[in-house]
Amino acid sequence: MRPLADRTKGLVQSNIRAVTLMLKDSGGINLGQGICDMPTPPSIKEAAKKAIDEDESIYSYYGGIDSLRDSLVVKSSTYNKMPVSSPEEVMVTVGSTGAFVTAMFCLLNSGDEVMVFEPFYGYHINLLQVMGAQIRFIPTRPPNWEIPFDAIEKAITERTRAIILNTPGNPHGKVWTHEELARLLVILEKHDLYAITDEIYEYMLYDGRAHYSLAALPGAFDRTITISGFSKTYNMTGWRIGYAIGPEPIISKMGLLADLLYICSPTPLQHGVAAAFKMNNRYFDDLASAYDQKRTLMCSTLDDVGFDLSWPQGSYYVLADFSPLRDRLKGFKDDVEACQTLIQKARVGTVPGQSFFNNPKDGQSFLRFCFAKELDVLQSACSQLKEALSSTRSA
Ligand SMILES: Cc1ncc(COP(=O)(O)O)c(C=O)c1O
Repeated sequence: MRPLADRTKGLVQSNIRAVTLMLKDSGGINLGQGICDMPTPPSIKEAAKKAIDEDESIYSYYGGIDSLRDSLVVKSSTYNKMPVSSPEEVMVTVGSTGAFVTAMFCLLNSGDEVMVFEPFYGYHINLLQVMGAQIRFIPTRPPNWEIPFDAIEKAITERTRAIILNTPGNPHGKVWTHEELARLLVILEKHDLYAITDEIYEYMLYDGRAHYSLAALPGAFDRTITISGFSKTYNMTGWRIGYAIGPEPIISKMGLLADLLYICSPTPLQHGVAAAFKMNNRYFDDLASAYDQKRTLMCSTLDDVGFDLSWPQGSYYVLADFSPLRDRLKGFKDDVEACQTLIQKARVGTVPGQSFFNNPKDGQSFLRFCFAKELDVLQSACSQLKEALSSTRSA
C-alpha cells in the first residue's frame, strides 16, 4: 500500500474501545467506556420523532437551528454566568467533540504549543497530535490533583497558543475552584493565550460543589472557547449534539469550518434536544443526586476491596490506585494486567490508567471506573468485584 498522510501515523484504536470489544465476548459489565447507556428523557425523544414526522430533514444553518441557539444563549448566561447575549456567540456542533475539532482547526497552526493537564481525556491529545500541535503536559497528581501553577508558567514559550482544561474532569473527577480559574486567568492574560474549556460534565457535582466556567470571569470571555453538549446530561451519546460558546469572531470562523467538515448537526435531532430546555430544573438536581448515590456505591466498594482512591468531586469516573492489592493478589502487576484480571475474574471492564498519562508508567497503578450505569447494573458490577477479589485472594 502507498503511504498514508503523516498525520495518521500515531493513530491506533484506544484501549477503551478494545476493552468494550473484549467484554462483548464475555457478556461482562462495562465500567470502562463512558457510554452512558441509561434512557434518554421521553420529551426529547418525542420532539425528535415529531421533527422526523414533520420532515425537518434538510440541512440546518451550520451554526444550528435558531430555537436551540436561543436556548443556549439563555443557558450559558444563567447557569454558566457567561457574558453571552447573542446567538452569534453560540454554535451547535456534532457532539462536543465537533466543537473541539473546529476550535482546534480555528486556533492552531502546525507546530503551535498547547498545554494539557495530565491525567487527560485521550481524544484531546489524539486530536492535537493529528493537528500537528506540540503538547506540553502539565502533571497533576492524587490525592488532590492540585494545579501546579509554577509548572504552567515554566511550560510557556513564544510558541504557546492555548491551554485545554476539563472541569469536572475525566478521568479523575476534579472540579476546578473559582480561585484556581482566577489564578489561571492571570497567566493567560500575562502571556496572551487562549483557553478551551471542556465542560461536558458540568451538571455532575458532589458534596455541594459548584461548577464555574472560566469564561464567566471578568475579562476571560474573549480568550475562551467553552465546549459542552447533551451526550452526558441527557444520556444521548449517540445523538451527537454538542455546542461551543465564545466571542463572535471566533465562533463565526468555527461555524465556517464546521460547514466544511460536516455541514451541520442532524436537524431533527437538534429539534429533539431543543425540548431539553423545557424540562423542569429539578431534572439536574435529580441527576446529581442519582449520580451521587452511584458514586457512593462505586467508591465505597473500591475502598472496601482495598483500592486507594480520592472520591471524585464531579463527573462520573473514578481513577483508583490498585497498588495496595498487588501485595496480596495475583494479576495486578500493572494496569493492563489488572484490567484483564477484572474482565476474567469479575466480568467487569475498566480502563487501564496509562490511557490518561503521557508516560504509560505514570498510569500503571491506576484503573478508571465509570459509574454511569443503571443502579441495578452497577450493584451487580460491585457485587462481582467484591466476590472476585475475595476469591482471587484465596486462589
Ligand atoms: C471530557 C470529555 N469531553 C468530551 C466527550 C465527548 O463528548 P461528545 O459526546 O459531546 O462528543 C467525552 C466523552 O467521554 C469526555 O469525557
